[in-house]
Amino acid sequence: MKRIVVIGGTGHFGGRICRRIAGEKNTELVVTSRSKTKAQAVVDKVQRGSPTAIISAVRLDRLSPEFGSDLQALDPDIVIHTAGPYQGQDYRVAEVCIESGSHYIDLADGRDFVQEFDGLDEEAKKKGVLLVTGASTLPGLSSVVIDLLRKKFKSIQEIEISIAPAHQTPRGASTIAAVLSYCGMPFEVLIDGNWVTKHGWHDIRRRRYPIFGIRYSAACDVPDLGLLPRYVEGLKSVTFHAALEAKWEQIALWSMGWVTRAGVIKNWDPFVPIFQRASNWLIGMGSDVGGMQITLSGKTADNVSKSVTWNLTARQNHGAEIPCSPALIIARKLVVDEISVRGAFPCLGMFSMSDFASEVSDFDIDWSVDESP
Ligand SMILES: NC(=O)c1ccc[n+]([C@@H]2O[C@H](COP(=O)([O-])OP(=O)(O)OC[C@H]3O[C@@H](n4cnc5c(N)ncnc54)[C@H](OP(=O)(O)O)[C@@H]3O)[C@@H](O)[C@H]2O)c1
Repeated sequence: MKRIVVIGGTGHFGGRICRRIAGEKNTELVVTSRSKTKAQAVVDKVQRGSPTAIISAVRLDRLSPEFGSDLQALDPDIVIHTAGPYQGQDYRVAEVCIESGSHYIDLADGRDFVQEFDGLDEEAKKKGVLLVTGASTLPGLSSVVIDLLRKKFKSIQEIEISIAPAHQTPRGASTIAAVLSYCGMPFEVLIDGNWVTKHGWHDIRRRRYPIFGIRYSAACDVPDLGLLPRYVEGLKSVTFHAALEAKWEQIALWSMGWVTRAGVIKNWDPFVPIFQRASNWLIGMGSDVGGMQITLSGKTADNVSKSVTWNLTARQNHGAEIPCSPALIIARKLVVDEISVRGAFPCLGMFSMSDFASEVSDFDIDWSVDESP
């Protein structure tokens, strides 16, 4: 039996991970929260869907002084850490996993957190454990799509990534805190071979999605902006934009960005509950359809300029299952000893598109590839 401990199991993504991994052969699931009652409520719900699953609820706070001993006492084989925001978070959870000889997977989208994670590599190798950061949409899934599309090119000049989440999908407090952490803040983006400064939720672009037509999107500070120039040789530009369905939300974030740039408010953390309440009130004012788009542009073996776009569409609010999928794929592979590599690194090209297709086969999610010319 492998014991999987989900930190933040009551969360938007943590809860989905618990539901989807419960009852996996040869596994035992531990759902954690800062409140035992909340963790038990998730256990009861998950158990109703998977009556044979071995599952328990435990109180765990990653900020408590006893966190190290509390996690070690659970004797985990695999820890899935979903308790963001990762922006500004230290590596305590991963370090405790190294000490206790447990594998570790997180959903991190904090650029510095993901980029500097390989500082744990040596210790992880010594202990024979695997620590994977960013096992989520970015860079977990995005890198796998890039690996699939890059075969069509001799050289790649530009990668453009954008996500258009469904408005009706509820947002977790950690996700809201993450996206507000870089609102109006400067960050570096590689454009035409030069590092240039952009600001969070600014740099508005028009983007066409096959399913919704034109949407306006804004720049976000994500790990891919720093990782991809090292992952894809010769890359000259890499951008990431988020296209929110509700114009009022996009305008609010854009305006807040100017408030930050004017030096009036630098830390939006206290506003996270207000944002979460507002988005819950207004959740009915949009659709349950979301999308993701990755475009690679470059030269083919015949020196012809080419662009290839991967377009994903998720209906029925199933887009929320995507950020959980890379972590689940890696956890399932670890359970059956299908991953032999050890160390600590970002989730880059760690699975195949067919792994992803099987992982999301129960959901209303599909994708296609468009090529020009
Ligand atoms: N890389 C990507 O592409 C990507 C994509 C989507 C999301 N994400 C990231 O995924 C993370 C999770 O998002 P979410 O929407 O699921 O957030 P969420 O709903 O707020 O869930 C986070 C959970 O963490 C738990 N938690 C908070 N503080 C804790 C602490 N001190 N100790 C232990 N547990 C704690 C909370 O549970 P209790 O309150 O019950 O303790 C909460 O349920 C976010 O940081 C988001 O940015 C990454």
